[in-house]
Amino acid sequence: MGLLGSLAMLVLVLLCFEQLPNVRAQSKRSEARALDVLLQEYAFRGFNAVPKTGTIYKGNALSNLTGIEITALRLRSGSLRRRGVPMYNEFQIPIGIKATPYVERLVLVYQNLANWSSRYYDLPNHTYLAPVLGLLAYDGSNLSATNLQELDINATGNPILVKFQDVKSAPDGAVAKCVWFDLQGSSNFSNVTGRNTCSTFQQGHFSIVVESTTAPGPVSPPSGPTPTPSAPGEKSNKKVWIIVGSVLGGLVLLALLSLLILWLRKYKQKKKMQGMERAAEAGEALHMASVGSTKAPAASVTRTQPTLEQEYAP
Ligand SMILES: *[C@@H]1O[C@H](CO)[C@@H](O)[C@H](O)[C@H]1NC(C)=O
Ligand SMILES: *[C@@H]1O[C@H](CO)[C@@H](O)[C@H](O)[C@H]1NC(C)=O
Ligand SMILES: *[C@@H]1O[C@H](CO)[C@@H](O)[C@H](O)[C@H]1NC(C)=O
Ligand SMILES: *[C@@H]1O[C@H](CO)[C@@H](O)[C@H](O)[C@H]1NC(C)=O
Ligand SMILES: *[C@@H]1O[C@H](CO)[C@@H](O)[C@H](O)[C@H]1NC(C)=O
Ligand SMILES: *[C@@H]1O[C@H](CO)[C@@H](O)[C@H](O)[C@H]1NC(C)=O
Ligand SMILES: *[C@@H]1O[C@H](CO)[C@@H](O)[C@H](O)[C@H]1NC(C)=O
Repeated sequence: MGLLGSLAMLVLVLLCFEQLPNVRAQSKRSEARALDVLLQEYAFRGFNAVPKTGTIYKGNALSNLTGIEITALRLRSGSLRRRGVPMYNEFQIPIGIKATPYVERLVLVYQNLANWSSRYYDLPNHTYLAPVLGLLAYDGSNLSATNLQELDINATGNPILVKFQDVKSAPDGAVAKCVWFDLQGSSNFSNVTGRNTCSTFQQGHFSIVVESTTAPGPVSPPSGPTPTPSAPGEKSNKKVWIIVGSVLGGLVLLALLSLLILWLRKYKQKKKMQGMERAAEAGEALHMASVGSTKAPAASVTRTQPTLEQEYAP
């Protein structure tokens, strides 16, 4: 392996370590997206055979996700745009909502993640004062469809309002903030208005948070046991993998480093040998010069062989 090769590997390994938190965030994001897929399916199952448009249907509960609430609302796109939805649970949807691509009927799936909020939407150094609520739009033409892609919805006039109920009060001196997670997983903060209201021009997941201080203040944790002892196998498995990965990575790093050091040593020796060789050759040339124009082909044989020493080097 050449020096460049080793160096490239080293950089690669170091980069992997750098990316570890990123990878973790990404896996969180994909978990949340997998939950969206599941909740879409279960919300759609809550419709009866001929669901009325404009009626809110409660989705089937998932036995392994007790606490999460889902509902579905089927609407004509035109009606949504012209009339909005004055009250869809906590969401107040104004007129002027545009959905792309155009579908005749769409379904707005509502999610209340309750005590699962921080499990799926982990926000470092923040505490949830309200549950994470989701609002996602889907094509409503086939109610047994699964794995649906969300439609793109935008409020073209006034924003959609989210009026949270039962917001915990922020600890003294702390400022509550709205947080919005878009479907790509990035989050953004904005100001809370009227103590409990957030606004948005797009779909996604929403909540109210406060920055948590490390000092044990009167910060009340969100409802339920949030240190998430849930889904035990999965979580600890991931931890194990991270540890195993780190150890393996460390070993690889160590091996690469030793290789590099070995190689450098050899390289130095080689340089030294070459220097000696050159010196020997110079000596030979001198010697030959003193002999005159007579050729001395045996000269190279009398020269000490540097390769021997190199072979016995540690
Ligand atoms: C809950 O159950 C559903 C359906 O059985 C399954 O697809 C999903 O992965 C489960 N979720 C968790 C977090 O265990
Ligand atoms: C949320 O609460 C329900 C009971 O209401 C419980 O079964 C579930 O395990 C809790 N989820 C988490 C993540 O703690
Ligand atoms: C969270 O807070 C700790 C300690 O104050 C800090 O070291 C860390 O960088 C913070 N994390 C984020 C994502 O801001
Ligand atoms: C609706 O979706 C289901 C599940 O993907 C599929 O089996 C069915 O053929 C679809 N129906 C129509 C009318 O497209
Ligand atoms: C909605 O807004 C987003 C971001 O502002 C933009 O990228 C997207 O094209 C808009 N979609 C529509 C249908 O206007
Ligand atoms: C967050 O929101 C602010 C104000 O709405 C905006 O200027 C900024 O670009 C947003 N950042 C991201 C990452 O979306
Ligand atoms: C949010 O509130 C802070 C302080 O209360 C203020 O300085 C800031 O301009 C507000 N941001 C917006 C987008 O209204």
